[in-house]
Parts: sequence; C-alpha cells; structure tokens
Amino acid sequence: MAYSINFTVNGERRLVEIEDPRVTLLDLLRNHLHLTGAKKGCDRGQCGACTVLVNGRRINSCLALGVAMDNTEVLTIEGVAGDGRLHPVQEAFIANDGLQCGFCTPGQIMSAIGLINEGQAGDDPERIRECMSGNLCRCGAYLGITQAIQEAQN
Ligand code: FES
Repeated sequence: MAYSINFTVNGERRLVEIEDPRVTLLDLLRNHLHLTGAKKGCDRGQCGACTVLVNGRRINSCLALGVAMDNTEVLTIEGVAGDGRLHPVQEAFIANDGLQCGFCTPGQIMSAIGLINEGQAGDDPERIRECMSGNLCRCGAYLGITQAIQEAQN
C-alpha cells in the first residue's frame, strides 16, 4: 500500500508517495525531496540539527512522521531566503559569528526564526539560551548564536 502526502514545502505544493508509513519528515525531505539542509545528527530528538517549521512552529523533523504532514506547510532552510537576499536571521548569524563548522546551522536558524515568530525570544540572553536549548552546537558557538537572535529580532 502506498501513502500519499500532499503538502506545501517552501511555498510549493508537493505530492510524495511512500511505501513505508514509518518514514520521518526528515527522511522525506532529504531522501524524497532532496532538500538536504535539515541535518540528521542524532535521529532521536536530542540535537535539533533537523529543525524545520511546520505551520510556523519549529519541530524536530526526525521525530515527525511524514504521513502526518498531509495538508501542512513546511518551511526548511532552503526556503527562507528570497529575492536574491538572505533572511535577516541568516544575515545576523553571519554578522555575529553564530557558526563554526556549520552542521547545526540550518537547525539553529530555523529554530531562531520559529522563536522570533513566536514572539518568545525577548532580549534576555539567558532566556534566548533556554528557548534555544533544543539546538546543540558541538563547536560551542552559543555566544554568537544568542547575539544573532538578539540582533535579528530588533
Ligand atoms: Fe533530529 Fe537530532 S536529528 S533532533
């Protein structure tokens, strides 16, 4: 039996057919739609490298089933820049050295965009760190990441 997932990804209507209903949103994006910006770090909800927005809310795409995405709107790192310009959060990450090796960066940026959209970030660095605690950075670029989010929301 095949399962159809009809959803919007980065503003484009997509129809994907899968055989296995256990395929995660992360694998759906990476293996079926070839959107490899969301990274597979732990594949168990612990690192945040796979963060994307679903209907505007940030989620770990490794924990969501692809079949549950029918009729949703998914935004990945590939969809945030537009008109030849980076997203303001991307600009702020660059300006504040909010990255080192870059592996966690797509997830960090998607989480930051979600956080700012939620209006939850505030200006307190401790609060931002707490709200971003689901996104790990093995290089320890937390200071730059926090400063980037402070800058981007102003
Ligand atoms: Fe999803 Fe680590 S790959 S949280």
